[in-house]
Amino acid sequence: MIYYKSLDEIELMRKSSVLVSKTLSEIAKVIKPGISTSSLDVLAEDFIRSNGGVPSFKGYRSYPYTLCISINDQVVHGMPGKRIIYEDDIVSVDCGACLNGFHGDSAYTFYLGDNDKSKIQLLKTTKECLELGIKRALVGMRIGDIGEAIQTHAVKEGYSVVRDLIGHGVGKKLHEKPEVPNFGKRGSGIVLREGLTIAIEPMINMGKKEVFTERDNWTVSTKDGLPSAHFEHTIAIGKESTEVLTTFKYIEEVLSNSLVY
Ligand code: MF3
Ligand code: CO
Repeated sequence: MIYYKSLDEIELMRKSSVLVSKTLSEIAKVIKPGISTSSLDVLAEDFIRSNGGVPSFKGYRSYPYTLCISINDQVVHGMPGKRIIYEDDIVSVDCGACLNGFHGDSAYTFYLGDNDKSKIQLLKTTKECLELGIKRALVGMRIGDIGEAIQTHAVKEGYSVVRDLIGHGVGKKLHEKPEVPNFGKRGSGIVLREGLTIAIEPMINMGKKEVFTERDNWTVSTKDGLPSAHFEHTIAIGKESTEVLTTFKYIEEVLSNSLVY
């Protein structure tokens, strides 16, 4: 069953989505070489709770943290801990928050180096994949149209699309129907209708698409050890237009004044 949201419910989702976006900008303020991933997690949980929210991931299928922090060859679901972030790392920070009964979900990949062109290109392309997917997410289009746009762009740039993990509906639950793959065929899958709220989250690998789950049972990494990037937005399909409920504008304001890419 797909749960379509009313305009009022979408307004509530916007509030949780803005909280997630601001939480990621708090991370952007402090992320730098030498910092531990657990300190970022503590900061995110405090920020969400002090704004009246609840971390969406903590306790979800027994996941113990607020953030997923995935570094370099880690694709998604990296667990915060003692690991220190180093110069030249690419770091995906994924965050969900629940406010007024609705979840928002978003991820951003930071680059902590200066000039590795191949990493910068991977991040740029993955963010473009997300934007191109969102452009296809209009009333009357189909789920496969989103995936096709993402896949075509990634492959054109010489990258591969992770198949084992996908985007999802989002709302009262963190994960709802429908599934939102980052690959597919134009004109395939369910038709997008007004009130559909989904999280689009391309995971793009510099090398091959194959991934595996680490022995911690959470972290998903590339098999070939090459870097992977991940960007995610929560969006709402409206009658006239599609609204991106999460935003990178707060993150980008912070990054424009810093050395982090
Ligand atoms: N944004 C990710 C997702 O939607 C994060 C889920 S992590 C989990 O799949 F811990 F909550 F499972
Ligand atoms: Co998600």
